[in-house]
Amino acid sequence: MRKLRLFLATSMISVAAWSQQAETRIAIIPEPVRLKRLDGYFRLPERVVVAVSGQEALKNSAEWLKRRLSVATGHTVAIGGGAATIRLLLNGTADKELGSEGYRLTVGPGTIIIKANNPAGIFYGIQTLVQLFPPEIESASLVHRSSWQAPCVEITDYPRFAWRGLMLDVSRHFFTKEEVESYIDQMARYKFNLFHWHLTDDEGWRVEIKSLPSLTTKGAWRVHKVGQFGTFSAPLADEPRTEGGFYSQEDIREVVQYAKDRFVDVLPEVDVPGHSLAAIASYPELSCTPGADKYEVGSGEPFMNWTDSGNIALVDNTLCPANEKSYAFLDKVFTEIAGLFPFPYIHVGGDECAKNFWQKSDAIRALMQQEGLKNMREVQSYFEKRVEKIVESKGKKMIGWDEILEGGLAPGAAVMSWRGEQGGVEAARLNHEVVMSPTTYTYLDYMQGDPIIESHVYATLRLDKAYSFEPVPAGADPRFIKGGQGNLWTEQVYNIRHAEYMTWPRAFAIAESVWSPREKKSWSAFIPKVEEHFRRFDIESVKYAPCIYDPVFTPKKDEKGRLTIAMSTEIGGLDIYYTFDNSFPDRFYPKYTGPLLPPKDATTLRVITYRGAQPMGRLITMPLKEMEGRLK
Ligand code: ACM
Repeated sequence: MRKLRLFLATSMISVAAWSQQAETRIAIIPEPVRLKRLDGYFRLPERVVVAVSGQEALKNSAEWLKRRLSVATGHTVAIGGGAATIRLLLNGTADKELGSEGYRLTVGPGTIIIKANNPAGIFYGIQTLVQLFPPEIESASLVHRSSWQAPCVEITDYPRFAWRGLMLDVSRHFFTKEEVESYIDQMARYKFNLFHWHLTDDEGWRVEIKSLPSLTTKGAWRVHKVGQFGTFSAPLADEPRTEGGFYSQEDIREVVQYAKDRFVDVLPEVDVPGHSLAAIASYPELSCTPGADKYEVGSGEPFMNWTDSGNIALVDNTLCPANEKSYAFLDKVFTEIAGLFPFPYIHVGGDECAKNFWQKSDAIRALMQQEGLKNMREVQSYFEKRVEKIVESKGKKMIGWDEILEGGLAPGAAVMSWRGEQGGVEAARLNHEVVMSPTTYTYLDYMQGDPIIESHVYATLRLDKAYSFEPVPAGADPRFIKGGQGNLWTEQVYNIRHAEYMTWPRAFAIAESVWSPREKKSWSAFIPKVEEHFRRFDIESVKYAPCIYDPVFTPKKDEKGRLTIAMSTEIGGLDIYYTFDNSFPDRFYPKYTGPLLPPKDATTLRVITYRGAQPMGRLITMPLKEMEGRLK
């Protein structure tokens, strides 16, 4: 009996130690500048008082904190002065180290203090504080726990870059105002401060422009199709145009305010002169091409041959640079856009503009003669310079994709570098502001795992590659690099759950690249944090991609010319179990230890990963024909 009691006592201690240990795990994303662990824990009392020193500017942040600390815990959180549990303090005099968005957070056993120069810093301090509490704090309903503790720490933190963005394409698939707000809410928790809203494209115009009503009565609607976007059949006359939607100006104002409350600026993008089929379908007179009055908003059918040496459009999806109506149109659009979005920049697109219809146009030929333009790149550059004048006349600065460099950059334009890093390097060399969003590291529409299991897109970007994103490219003057962002194009993203899946965890990686000091980034420290945040997302019901748990397949030929398959994992600590016999492997199957030579008549390799006894990856069925195909 004594033995049993002793056993029970020691096992209870070890359970307590284990849970204590679980609570001490500090997993802050993005990694702060400096963090010192102090002895002990802050234990959230039943009645919490948040003191905000009467600052109106901190009201929203205090309300946010109140929600976050009360919903899951059931504790009472009051905002006011007096004997405070948590103090939110705006510095009377500027603390130089913190800059405009930094904060100092001290978690002591009885009180918590967040200090900052500006309300944004207080908001970020709150985000860090919430991440110090157990993941269940993210629950939308009451969770019963014996205590809610945060480890005592002293943190000093501020961002490396002022521009920390995510882009969402709402044209290829429409996302409701509420979905957009949920996306913004999520990004703000990871200290992103810029939401780039890709509002117009070939497959839908999404912002109400009151002086141009057809843009949303016609340009926002197309035929509903499901499958592999970009391969659909052309819309038929009798198919209803019911797929799509748009944001009223009231909706836009609401989203802008929602974002502002979370210290997120909203950058609107109107993508011209290419990617403008929805605008042309609404106002065909903006085209140089006869027959544009028959054009329709794209429904996901092929309309362009994308080639490395240029894009060949099958229908002319461009605004005509030789047509004064294009500039009058943009003047109206940017007047209203400038009135809706307080952010100082307007994104004017400029990417992937097909020039093959311009080459056949008499109007373009006449423009070239009149303006002394030597080639189609200079025609686009002429267009961009006129667009810049319009944007500036509305009191805004212009930013565009790196194609706006071609043929001569408009004098005050900022450049968003996406086709690798060269555009950013070149724009910085010309003393222009740059935002880095290279496909190689930040394209969130790319697949995160093996194409055999992912929704198919033409390229892959795994988390480890995204984590290696360095916003200042080699050879660029860092003074011109404003920051970086991830871009989520949504051709293959049909709903918000999939948008979340594509965004996370890669946006964690981008958050660390744009916020944390370069020397603080560490892949091996990052992954346990990612897993901790997966737990948070599970509790919050936010979707994420679990691809880090799946194997990477590398087919090769051996010296006899036979297919062999090597497998590895992006993260350590996983075992891969496999079979060629078409059944479902588990941890009692063969464990992978080195390249596999498939048995002579086998047709598939099935694999799954485990951590100890716990299945981690998804069951993947890999046809050997697929592996053979990848050898080519
Ligand atoms: C882009 O990805 N076309 C900017």
